[in-house]
Amino acid sequence: MKERPRLLAVFGTRPEAIKLAPVIRALRARPELEVGVAVTAQHREMLDQVLDLFDLTPEYDLDLMQTGQELPDLTGRILGGLQPLLRAEQPRLVLVQGDTTTAFAAALAAFYSRVSVAHVEAGLRTESKYSPWPEEINRRLVTVLADWHFAPTEAAAANLRREGVPAGRIHVTGNTVIDALRMVTRPDHRFRSEALAAWLAAAAGRRLLLVTLHRRENWGAALGDICRGLRDILAEFPDTALILPLHKNPAVRAVITDTLGAAAAPERLCLCEPLDYADFANLMGRAYLIVTDSGGVQEEAPSLGKPLVVARDTTERPEIVARGGAVLAGAGGAAVSEALRRLLTDDALYARMAGAGNPYGDGRAAERIVSVLTAAIFGH
Ligand code: UD1
Ligand code: UDP
Repeated sequence: MKERPRLLAVFGTRPEAIKLAPVIRALRARPELEVGVAVTAQHREMLDQVLDLFDLTPEYDLDLMQTGQELPDLTGRILGGLQPLLRAEQPRLVLVQGDTTTAFAAALAAFYSRVSVAHVEAGLRTESKYSPWPEEINRRLVTVLADWHFAPTEAAAANLRREGVPAGRIHVTGNTVIDALRMVTRPDHRFRSEALAAWLAAAAGRRLLLVTLHRRENWGAALGDICRGLRDILAEFPDTALILPLHKNPAVRAVITDTLGAAAAPERLCLCEPLDYADFANLMGRAYLIVTDSGGVQEEAPSLGKPLVVARDTTERPEIVARGGAVLAGAGGAAVSEALRRLLTDDALYARMAGAGNPYGDGRAAERIVSVLTAAIFGH
């Protein structure tokens, strides 16, 4: 039997896994292709949660995560770890996603092995070198290395054209996170975490503020300040309850638990472990509003009709801010609490933001990506 062209998806963190899972599923539905999965495990537990949920078993697991890993060392270990397997596999192309160190280093490793690169979620830009750090530059470096650029939105495609990427190499597909979100959200979702289900029952009747915070450029003082802003809001609005699934990073959780840990009674405040994606997605559906510095959450919240306060100074996802569904508050406590105060007191503003609509995709991004790739490989 003729050998099928083999593609290799390489990823390492929670968001990459969530956003590549629909693409891998769509590729596996094509009998004329083979797709392998290699994980760097830049994240360990948070990656494994997603692998379990989407039933993905990697052929290769570099198992690289170290506590408190630093960028140069992580980059070097990814390059070194991928080289032998790329040499042995010689895939037709490597698929990477987003702006993490894994995405950048995997694209570079593929280049060193003269393997083509397809970049999912290409073209997002803040135009600010250190914000988000290091993601803005990681994503630009992947652009230089990539042969196929899958832009989630027209604005992202325009950024790529402006930088000289040939128009024929850019495909606007929507963001695959919307595909993933649709795969896991259900009106009758039963929360897998019993602790979460119990807390939700205790908090019932209150307006639920869902928060995620982890950005590297905010580690330390800025993160503490944002948490103090949240503490003020809990004190001012007794009809609210706040849930914050903590990132696994010890540097992030220490600041959050120190600043926010005792801010309200347990039925009004939950600092929990990272939630399984199905639980988290369905929890977003129950939230009154969302506060985040996450990339993926900025894309998901609008498709669930949830007003969003972005606790960052810049965003590479300006579409929802432009539509009025999100406020780019800044990475400061007073700015975040002021944005929340407005949303919690102004019903008309809340309704406008909740109704802003979703600019990030229709749930068929993976299908479009796979059509482009199969056409490129088979010439039809
Ligand atoms: C990484 C990405 C960031 C992405 C984020 C998603 C880089 C440089 N950063 O940031 O773009 O937004 O993932 O969450 O690529 N840890 C665990 N268990 C885990 C995951 C992390 O213990 O499952 C701890 C480890 O101590 C690790 C630390 O968190 O060293 C930081 O992880 P790392 O991947 O370097 O950075 P993130 O801030 O997670
Ligand atoms: N997420 C999750 N469990 C959580 C918090 C977030 O599954 O407890 C999901 C979220 O829905 C989104 C993704 O993780 O799809 C975002 O990951 P993260 O914020 O870590 O990374 P970023 O998107 O900022 O790179």
